[in-house]
Amino acid sequence: MSTLTPPFAPGAVRVGDWDFGDFPYGLEPLVMPPAGHAGASAEHRSVTLPPCEPERICLELRALTGSRPGIAHLGVPSAPSYDQLFWFRWITGHQVTFALWRLMGRILEELSPRDPVPGPAAMERLESYTHCYCAMLLYSGSCPRALYQSLIRPAMFLQHRGFSGLWAPDFTQVRGLMRGRPVPWLRDGRATGLRAAVHSQREVHDSVAARLVPGGRSLLQQSVTENPVRPSERTAVLYDNFFMTLRGPVPDEAVAGQLLRRLRAVGLDLAVNGLYPLGRDEDGEGAEGWNGSVARCERRLGTVLANAAAHAAGPARQAPQTV
Ligand code: HEM
Repeated sequence: MSTLTPPFAPGAVRVGDWDFGDFPYGLEPLVMPPAGHAGASAEHRSVTLPPCEPERICLELRALTGSRPGIAHLGVPSAPSYDQLFWFRWITGHQVTFALWRLMGRILEELSPRDPVPGPAAMERLESYTHCYCAMLLYSGSCPRALYQSLIRPAMFLQHRGFSGLWAPDFTQVRGLMRGRPVPWLRDGRATGLRAAVHSQREVHDSVAARLVPGGRSLLQQSVTENPVRPSERTAVLYDNFFMTLRGPVPDEAVAGQLLRRLRAVGLDLAVNGLYPLGRDEDGEGAEGWNGSVARCERRLGTVLANAAAHAAGPARQAPQTV
């Protein structure tokens, strides 16, 4: 596999070619531990995960930080169609998010009930992963509204007419934190950075929703009068199946490795195509409605990816793993 040296880091780091999926902007299944209503499949068959080199990925993502879009000579072709590019972003951006939620869930599980305020290292990881979640909201939802309405939303509608983020099995592990309750320690002075990140996450979600669906009404909200559907085992399978997510006895090291491989693919895509290759529709409230959290997150995208990768690299395993 050939490698090319990007001009922004002469001689320092060689950023390699695309190595995710069967072709550039191809998808890979994600294998996750049980969560929420999603249990391990009774007939779980083991899957061999592709190898991942945590240190190399961290160096590459650091080198890509701040690079300008359009680095065609990176060795990553642009996608054959925008449908392919934005489908990759919708599915892979969600998969990255599920892995982030799981790693955050693990940190929250390990907090001591007697002194639940996370220590500085755990706090930093939670903050970094929350910023990366914000980045993934922007990344997943970076398509033009017209493409979202003609490709992505109809596909979710066909999967289930009430398809909703409320069904995301991994979100159950962080719902309390993301909604700011019941997590009293979030008001602690030591949690200022995390509190700001959690606040941004809500603003970014609502901005993306308003931009892609004027009014931000979800499929669930539209269908609620005719057929309210609560999260259940069935909705968990429908949701996982849409985002190519399998469930089994997967250790967190393997979750971290899968996260890193995806962050690398996302980083290469952004380096070649930029965040909004077809431009960005304004949200419902016009340009001024494009609030500070979104603009900040857009500016720091590369740094946020590199930081999250550095945190995930600690627990990630290098060798191919069968889970
Ligand atoms: C970009 C990727 C997105 C992700 C990762 C995401 C994730 C989520 C999650 C996890 C929830 C549950 C929140 C909770 O339980 O507190 C949720 C709810 C919701 N999302 Fe999103 N969302 C995304 C995009 C969108 C878009 C494009 C819309 C536009 C309609 C939208 C509209 C909503 C609404 C209205 C809810 C409230 C529950 C419902 O009515 O379905 N989201 N989302």
